[in-house]
Order: sequence, then structure tokens, then C-alpha cells
Amino acid sequence: MSRIALAFVLLFFLPGVSRAGPETELALKLPPTSLAKWYKPANKRQVWLHTMFSLRREYQAVSEYILLEDAKRALKWAKRLDKHYRSIAEMVPGWRDELEIQLLEALLAALEKDKLDVAGEQARKLVKSCRSCHREYQAVVALMYRAPDFSKMTVEDSETLEEEAFDKVMERLTTLLNRVKIAFEDGRKAVARESLEALHRRLEDLAGGCEQCHRDDSASRLLFGKDYQRISAELAEGIAQADVAKTGGAMGELAVSVCARCHAIHRIQSDMRELITE
Ligand code: HEC
Ligand code: HEC
Ligand code: HEC
Repeated sequence: MSRIALAFVLLFFLPGVSRAGPETELALKLPPTSLAKWYKPANKRQVWLHTMFSLRREYQAVSEYILLEDAKRALKWAKRLDKHYRSIAEMVPGWRDELEIQLLEALLAALEKDKLDVAGEQARKLVKSCRSCHREYQAVVALMYRAPDFSKMTVEDSETLEEEAFDKVMERLTTLLNRVKIAFEDGRKAVARESLEALHRRLEDLAGGCEQCHRDDSASRLLFGKDYQRISAELAEGIAQADVAKTGGAMGELAVSVCARCHAIHRIQSDMRELITE
């Protein structure tokens, strides 16, 4: 099994004491590589994830029918649960040891004999084995195989018509945002205005790329909709009138409603994914 240790160095400061505490490490395990076959792009569907959805539904049905003392229906669902649970080791042989097949055998046997107490106990034990795998792997797998990958993304610059690497685009946005602030503070109105226009163009180029993954314009509208129009107008006015409060407020709003909103989902996932996959 492939394993790497990711070290996050966390510095703890005791309240009121200005002394750095011990360094702490967090180790994360990577899943067996054969898992990739059950996710896009290697597979047409997210097969692994859908197997998990089935397991949850089947487990729920078994538990509910045991409570309703309906052994026949519970058995029907337990058989499906058995099939999907076993398929884990067929899909990812490296995870065979994570399974507790004997619990399912005992569950099926108990239901066949109408022993609902025993069946209930086996089902509860089984769900603990689900949890132990989840604790180790679930978050890492979701990041590795389901978080969108921005590392190979490019954004077309509408002026030069060149494709620019995503991280370069991000650096450019920050540079422009800060240039507006610096120039405004120092009374260089023309530079502030030009930089603001350039910032708008780069943001519109970025918005044009959302639909590479999003099916419609809902993502780009969320960021560049009505709020954006209003903030942009306030910024232009603020700069023209040399109004410090208005300009400062609008810059802050822009950074939150455009940059931070997207970062809250995409940057955090992207940074975590990169940590894990590199
Ligand atoms: C050998 C490891 C392993 C075992 C055993 C396992 N799972 Fe999972 N499960 C995973 C991984 C990995 C994920 C993360 C998948 C993802 O997010 O793409 C997951 C995710 C899930 C999810 C979350 C889906 C969501 O909403 O995002 C459910 C529900 C689930 N498993 C149910 C079960 C049940 C019920 C069992 C036991 C009967 C079980 N799993 C056993 C590895 C396992
Ligand atoms: C590389 C593919 C990709 C690109 C490019 C992309 N997104 Fe997403 N985005 C996703 C996926 C997939 C989700 C679903 C949640 C997840 O797994 O991250 C998502 C979710 C979101 C969400 C959370 C709410 C929702 O609508 O689902 C926001 C907000 C969002 N994206 C904004 C944007 C904006 C704005 C852009 C363009 C500037 C963009 N995204 C470009 C793939 C992408
Ligand atoms: C698609 C939605 C999205 C929007 C909108 C967005 N960002 Fe980002 N940003 C990302 C993602 C994803 C990353 C991490 C990936 C990367 O750095 O290539 C990132 C990373 C960054 C970084 C770090 C770059 C690096 O190389 O580490 C900076 C700085 C940044 N963004 C600034 C901004 C600013 C400023 C704005 C608003 C004017 C903004 N971003 C708007 C998605 C977005």
C-alpha cells in the first residue's frame, strides 16, 4: 500500500504565554492506486462513490427492517449489501484487509433464521468497519479524485489572446488589486483607474473559463452578477471623487464577494489536493 506522510507543522501558543509549543505532525495515508480506475477520468462514472451511496442505502434499509421486525425484507437488502460490500475488495484488492466479511455472513445467517437481535448486533458492528476505513481515507480520496484540478487550467487573455497559466492569472489579479490601492492612496488617479480597468478585464477573462467545468453560467453569475456591477460602479465613482471611504469599502467588498467566495471552495480544495498529490 502506498503511504506518504504529510507533515503539517503547527505552532501552538499557550494563552498568555509567549512561547512556541511542540511541533506536531499529521500523517495521512494515500489509498491504493487501483482506486483511480473507479473514478473519472479513468472511468466514465464515479463508480466508487456510487457503490458507497448504495452501501449506505442498503445498510439503512437493513437497519430499518430489523427495527420493524421484517426479517424477509431485511434479508433482501442484506443480500445487496453483501454484494456491494464484497465488491470493495474486487475493485481495490489492496483494501481486502479492511473488510469484515464474517460480519455480513453472520448478518445473513441471523436474518435467515429470523434472529433479529443477533442481526441488529452484526449490523452495528459492520457499520464500525465502514467508519474505520472512512476515518483513514474518505477525505483524502474525495480531494484526490473529486476536487477540480486547477493546476493544468489556463485562462485566455482577451487582449493578447494568449493562454495564461492559472497561478499566473491569480498573481496578476493580486498585483492589480494592490496597484489600485497604492495608486489611489498616493493620489495617482489615472494609474488607479487604468489598473482598475485592467482588473475588470482579467476578471472577465477568468469568468469566461468557469463554463469549462460548470454546465451553465450560474457560477460566473454568482461572482460577477448584480453585486459585482454595483461594486464596480462604486469603485469607479470613489476613485473619480477621491473618496477614501467609498473606494476602500468597495475594494474590500470586491475582494470578499469575488475572490474570497471562489477561494472558499476552489482555492482551499486546490491547495489541499496539491499537498496530497505532489
Ligand atoms: C475500504 C474502505 C471503505 C469501506 C470498508 C467503506 N467505505 Fe465508504 N467510503 C470510502 C471512501 C474512500 C469514501 C470517499 C469517496 C469519495 O468521497 O469519493 C467513502 C465514502 C462513503 C460515503 C460518502 C458518500 C458521500 O456522501 O460523499 C458513504 C455514505 C459511504 N462511504 C458508505 C459506506 C458504508 C455504509 C460502508 C460499510 C457498509 C462503507 N462505506 C465502507 C471507503 C470505504
Ligand atoms: C476545473 C473545473 C472548474 C472550474 C474551471 C471552475 N469550477 Fe467551480 N466548481 C467545480 C466543481 C466540480 C464544483 C462542485 C464542488 C466541488 O467539488 O468543488 C464547483 C463548485 C463551485 C462553487 C460552489 C457552488 C456551486 O455553484 O456549485 C462556486 C461558487 C464555484 N464553483 C465558482 C466558480 C467560478 C466563479 C469559476 C470561474 C471563475 C469556477 N467555479 C470555475 C469545478 C470548476
Ligand atoms: C475560480 C475562482 C477564483 C476566483 C474568482 C479567484 N481565485 Fe484566486 N485562486 C483560485 C484557485 C483555485 C487558486 C489555487 C490554485 C493556484 O494557485 O493555481 C487561487 C490562488 C490564488 C492566489 C495564490 C497564487 C499562488 O500561486 O499561490 C492568489 C494570490 C489569488 N488566488 C488571488 C486572487 C484574487 C486577488 C482574486 C480576486 C480579484 C482571485 N484570486 C479570484 C481560484 C479563484
